[in-house]
Amino acid sequence: MSTAKTRLVILISGTGSNMEALIQAASSGAVSGEIVAVFSNRPDARGLDTARAAGIATEVVNHRDFADRESFDAELAARINSYAPDLVILAGFMRILTTAFVRQFHGRLMNIHPSLLPKYPGLHTHQRALEAGDCEAGATVHFVTEELDGGPAIVQAPVAVREGDTEQTLAERVLVLEHQIYPYAVELFCQGRLVINTQGVLLDDQLLPPGGISYPLQKPVRSEQ
Ligand code: GRF
Repeated sequence: MSTAKTRLVILISGTGSNMEALIQAASSGAVSGEIVAVFSNRPDARGLDTARAAGIATEVVNHRDFADRESFDAELAARINSYAPDLVILAGFMRILTTAFVRQFHGRLMNIHPSLLPKYPGLHTHQRALEAGDCEAGATVHFVTEELDGGPAIVQAPVAVREGDTEQTLAERVLVLEHQIYPYAVELFCQGRLVINTQGVLLDDQLLPPGGISYPLQKPVRSEQ
């Protein structure tokens, strides 16, 4: 008996290196789901070429063609829904989504953010960490809720700040870990092990701590036998 693969739709706005990590993970089998489409709000997003080269359907919904956020989000949601996704993955998607959009995909909308949330939601996260003199920066994969970068964490990866780090050097080291934790979190979802409820995220029916799973993993997370 064959089970249908989890259908994944990815939203990007630019380079798409996280998307590329997910494409590679899906092709190696590290992610068991199928990437059925990649969407961009920018027609010139470099990641679109990467997705096309991998034979994945691409769609552009240009926010500039719409009068307001509501009409853009409504069209985006309709086009995404035509692919019947189980999970919608924001991977460097640089648009703030409306409440209507977020509610529609509740529990199946994920984002990656380059900070140890709840620290530094929004932009310029590495610069803010450096200015604050933090000894750690990092990245968080979380479910998206109506609060910007405020949804419950699934996985978090800390990265030590080094003497002389700049926004760019820090971003580069954090990105290496982003490419590991995003496929990891997506695969947990594909295995049906992640659920969001009013208290936070449940992994195998256990409530995760506020920062989610800490990566690298201290001990193997139980997998279905
Ligand atoms: C990543 O740092 C991600 O955390 C943030 O935007 C960046 C996107 O990079 N949301 P890429 O397009 O995946 O290379």
